[in-house]
Amino acid sequence: MNTQDGTLRRPATAARPEGAGRAGREDLVKVWDPLVRIFHWSLVAGIAVAWLTADEWDRAHEWIGYAVGAFIVIRFVWGFIGTPFARFAQFVKGPRQTLAYLGRILRGRAERHLGHNPAGAAMIVALLTTIAGTVLTGWMMTLDAFWGVDWVEDLHEVLANAILVLVALHVAGVFHASVTHRENLVRAMITGRKRRDP
Ligand code: HEM
Ligand code: HEM
Repeated sequence: MNTQDGTLRRPATAARPEGAGRAGREDLVKVWDPLVRIFHWSLVAGIAVAWLTADEWDRAHEWIGYAVGAFIVIRFVWGFIGTPFARFAQFVKGPRQTLAYLGRILRGRAERHLGHNPAGAAMIVALLTTIAGTVLTGWMMTLDAFWGVDWVEDLHEVLANAILVLVALHVAGVFHASVTHRENLVRAMITGRKRRDP
């Protein structure tokens, strides 16, 4: 419908797309399902507690580490059978497309994605594999076969530190994309909803 100022507006009676926001507000669409959101914030809490208990409270450290491992296994399965924007096939891109997107970020020409953008997707893969490696080496430390083996312990520490570096870059990427595309991505990871239009 054309309004007096010439802008297009959806007629009040028009069917609103599924998951759209309330009338009178910009069109919002459901992107992140509850599993993705609960997974994300549980993962954040789990990593924080694992770090805080490391070398302080071994039992709690090991159990929270296993919990984080379980979150990742669940998210991995959901990446194949979950809702459209949760699927790896929807957002994981090859090196060529990822590098091209990073180039567009540097030139200030990166397009907006409703799901994860290719750079964010690469970071997600890096985070999930690094965290999985940390859990695996942590578990190995408890086995007779690797008891007191230095390289396992060293690798556990290196991977745990790598998580911190990746998280810092991840959060910087989230804020950069939020500013560039004028949207609050942190709020979207809480409510699950994002603006439909570019
Ligand atoms: C230990 C710290 C963190 C880890 C391991 C982590 C990991 C992840 C992962 C794996 C995803 C993908 C979600 C999915 O599809 O399942 C993600 C997305 C996201 N994370 Fe984090 N995250 C961390 C901290 C944070 C923090 C502190 C913030 C906010 C300041 C944040 C904001 C976001 C947002 C907004 C997305 C969605 C990005 C998008 O729109 O593409 N994360 N994070
Ligand atoms: C989210 C996952 C995890 C994170 C972020 C993490 C992080 C850390 C960090 C930062 C340290 C201290 C390294 C040092 O300075 O020596 C540590 C030590 C340790 N972690 Fe983990 N960890 C995780 C999971 C696990 C799991 C699943 C286990 C075992 C079941 C485990 C077992 C250990 C043990 C036994 C140590 C002590 C090593 C020593 O005696 O120096 N961790 N972890």
